[in-house]
Amino acid sequence: MVLGLGKTHIPYGMFDVERSADEARRFAKCERIYHRGQEIAWDGKEILPMLIEKHGGIDVEDDKKEALKRIFSIILWGELAAWRIAAQLADRLEPLEAKMAATSQAHDEARHFYVMYDYLCKLGYVPERLDRAPQAILDIVVGTDNLAYKLVGMQLLVEPMALTVFQTVREIAVEPVLTELMRYFERDEARHVGLGMQYLPVLMKDWNRRQISAMVTFQVRLMFWALWEQKILENDLVVLGIDPRKSLDRARKKQLAVLQTAFEAIGLPLDRERNYATMTMNAVIEFLFPADGVKAGLRGKLESVWNAFWRRPDRIDVTELDVHFSHAIKTARGEIARAERISA
Ligand SMILES: [Fe+2]
Ligand SMILES: [Fe+2]
Repeated sequence: MVLGLGKTHIPYGMFDVERSADEARRFAKCERIYHRGQEIAWDGKEILPMLIEKHGGIDVEDDKKEALKRIFSIILWGELAAWRIAAQLADRLEPLEAKMAATSQAHDEARHFYVMYDYLCKLGYVPERLDRAPQAILDIVVGTDNLAYKLVGMQLLVEPMALTVFQTVREIAVEPVLTELMRYFERDEARHVGLGMQYLPVLMKDWNRRQISAMVTFQVRLMFWALWEQKILENDLVVLGIDPRKSLDRARKKQLAVLQTAFEAIGLPLDRERNYATMTMNAVIEFLFPADGVKAGLRGKLESVWNAFWRRPDRIDVTELDVHFSHAIKTARGEIARAERISA
């Protein structure tokens, strides 16, 4: 378009879309994600030095420091990928409110990236390449052009995994500055999950079964890489005093809670759906990360894997994300943002 006379890139039709009452409610929630993100935005250049001063520096034993560096280098590059993905969504999502929510997320992720980098530098971290598994997850989500896949991958699968890391690391209180910093990250990430939960059903409303099963295949690809990643990090988690199986179960619970909310909105009861992808995933988890109380020997192991395959899904708790909104944080306006509850 040398002369600027070709087809326009300005979406003049963006206000013409007909909306059902349910969609209007979802778009109002997306718009609120943007405004809330602006109201309670925090300043990383203020908060990190403030926390370091409060706790008199960063002090952590050497083996735990190395484990934290490995786990949080994945978070660091994950924040950069999330920033790119949010910017892609801000560009490509057309309805105004969804575009606003994604734009606000891009702003948050930029902050997460520089704050995590500043923190890791204090631990003596030197940036290096990721292992294959976490890199594959991020590449798949950055690389897909399907916006529904992008939302499922980032907002409903990767961000609940990050929230699990933040919550679990906060609970073990391994290093006081990081413990407090996690509250700030959790408040933001939980809002981002909200964008996925609100907007995915709008994108998927006219999908047929074939499209839905292709989406499930996409999720399974990501989940297998995620299990690989969990296996790579197993020793580091143990060094920090985290039970790898329990943290995996927690991440699955969060993912299933948000997926269920999004899928039920288009009439798919995810928790009652017995699909082979979920059943296989349960069996693989049991194989790689056996639960406590499994009988010794090959027979006991096979039995537990078999039982995991056929296990009825638990009733999923949709309040799983509320904990992340429960932290008071200091905003860039100098106010304290108190706990809030943003359920589906
Ligand atoms: Fe983030
Ligand atoms: Fe995020």
